[in-house]
Amino acid sequence: MKTIFRTEDIFRIPAAAGASPGSLMATLIDIQGACRHLPRKALEILARRTGRSLVDLYGLVAFHPGLSLERRGVHQLSVCGGSACHVAGSRAVREELEHQLGIQLGETTADRSFSLHSAGCLGACAVGPVVVADGTCHRSVTPAGVGAIIGHCQGSHRQPPLDQDPCFFPVEVACPVCNASVLSHEHRLDGHRMVALDWTIGSQRGWVRLSSLWGDYRHVTEHPISRYTIARFFCPHCHAELQSEWLCPLCDGPLIPLVLRDGGMIRFCARRGCEEHMLDLGD
Ligand code: FES
Repeated sequence: MKTIFRTEDIFRIPAAAGASPGSLMATLIDIQGACRHLPRKALEILARRTGRSLVDLYGLVAFHPGLSLERRGVHQLSVCGGSACHVAGSRAVREELEHQLGIQLGETTADRSFSLHSAGCLGACAVGPVVVADGTCHRSVTPAGVGAIIGHCQGSHRQPPLDQDPCFFPVEVACPVCNASVLSHEHRLDGHRMVALDWTIGSQRGWVRLSSLWGDYRHVTEHPISRYTIARFFCPHCHAELQSEWLCPLCDGPLIPLVLRDGGMIRFCARRGCEEHMLDLGD
């Protein structure tokens, strides 16, 4: 009995997602909480499951201030932008937050620790200015109190290493023909060795370095590859072509197999721009 995990399993999208408007929103919020953003792949899966258009889902994300297509920081800070808080001095509080974090409203710090947002009236007008930090409401905030709010966030939770993020975990992979590791010694991404493969498209040849974090689609190529082009992939050691009998369920492109060091296989779509990949943990 084989266990095959697809990206939707990683996002833990329940079978009943989207059966009602409430369940759809709950699923979006769950994915946002786990991944700190809504990956395009997750929205595509939800669109397929629910029969709604992607545009519809993007509209929901744009409307809901708690949802984001961009990866947010570990700590979420919202400054009330309502009239009562404005009169009470929220602008100076916001400017102090921007100054101490080194970002503007709507941005995330480079180390992905903090995101800063503006919110509509939070319903505590009598005790403004109000700042919500990681779900905790701080009242009557002054610029002098901003440092304590940031410090409290930092003390309450340290940013987990990337490989402890539930949506991104490293995989150790090898060539299915010669069994040699295809992890590069020279190329690293976020501290993790990248997957090194060779490719051809027609008469053009080159190398590609893929992120070895499951769920991460970043890569570097020797030559640019046009979107939607299908490449043939080869082991950099034995030079065997990496082939399988499987086709991508999303785009019908060939799925490229790699052996997982801990048992099982990973398969990814050979079409540039298609993000389908599967984790097959074997018997
Ligand atoms: S205006 Fe800020 S809580 Fe209402």
